[in-house]
Amino acid sequence: MHYGTRIIGTGSAFPEQVVTNEDLVSKLAALGVDTSDQWIRERTGIHQRYFCKPDTPEEYNSALGERAARQALEMAGKAPGDIDQIIFATCSAETQLPSTACWMQERLGAHRAWAMDINAACSGFIYGLSTADQFIHSGHTHTALVVGSEVLSPYMNWEDRTSCILFGDGAGAAVVERVPEDCPNRILSSHLGSNGEHADLLHAPASGSRLELTPERYRQKLHKAHMNGKEIFKVAVRTLSSYAQQALDANQMTLDDMDWFAPHQANRRILDAVANRLKIPEEKILFNVHRYGNTSAATIPTLLDGAVRDGRITEGQTILLDAFGAGLTFASMMLRW
Ligand code: ACO
Repeated sequence: MHYGTRIIGTGSAFPEQVVTNEDLVSKLAALGVDTSDQWIRERTGIHQRYFCKPDTPEEYNSALGERAARQALEMAGKAPGDIDQIIFATCSAETQLPSTACWMQERLGAHRAWAMDINAACSGFIYGLSTADQFIHSGHTHTALVVGSEVLSPYMNWEDRTSCILFGDGAGAAVVERVPEDCPNRILSSHLGSNGEHADLLHAPASGSRLELTPERYRQKLHKAHMNGKEIFKVAVRTLSSYAQQALDANQMTLDDMDWFAPHQANRRILDAVANRLKIPEEKILFNVHRYGNTSAATIPTLLDGAVRDGRITEGQTILLDAFGAGLTFASMMLRW
């Protein structure tokens, strides 16, 4: 017996501190780094982002995830004890040991669940949903909680103006549940991919077991994110377009059959280029990069949550999720709400 998977609740959470472009311009100016609100808006579409306060337990990655999860559970009419499985998508784990999923499980009191992290960077939420879908499809799991949550601010090199202006902190979550395999409202398809050939385009060299973080490497900021933005831009436009097309083809759909396009929010110009290539009308695209910056695994669940809560996404609509991230990783998913 096989089953389908349906999203029955969403949630999102951001830290308290909003940082406008002007705030960031002042912070960077103090370090001798030159940028401007105009450059950031024109080149990225970002107006502001949220940053967690360092060393603040209420703003740990697991705490953001918990807040988003509680909202999603409330919308779903579920309690933490109803969850069988927690998948926590993040590339900014609260600790290397143990997983952020386990820290969040304890905060939530979701004691029946088994919990794990997934690191597929910005594709992480779709990877997580797709994994939950497989466990539900096989009959192993009834109810799962998928969280995309990031605290990226500690990984920013404030002296690298091409990367530190892009990212923000935040969390989104979805509760998914088993439905009959022929239920029309479910995940319809997913396509996942990765290409380690491009692993060095966005990486933090001394952030793990590869290089010991010596004082010298700390001074060189090797624990911070290093990015080749130009190359990522090119690969992103190409792969977001091809993964979106694969999702449409697999479901024998055209753009007319798709109600919403929910792409990873890395840079407004990347999304405009993809929309232009595929001829997706702007009114079908969900955006939140202007408010939150690039929150990696959190962009897609927060997009969904925003559009569900303000009534744009309604039952029966088809939504195409599409992402790329460090790795590089790629993912698309078609679902009917
Ligand atoms: N403020 C002012 N000037 C800047 C800034 C800044 N913050 N950053 C770069 N510049 C300057 C450069 O020095 C360069 O000046 P020069 O011409 O005198 O050398 C000029 O602006 C143009 O620089 P480019 O690198 O060509 O700028 P581009 O238009 O490519 O934009 C950006 C850079 C925003 C990084 C873009 O390439 C991008 O968004 N790439 C994708 C990045 C991305 O998506 N990363 C995350 C993906 S994976 C994940 O999400 C985890």
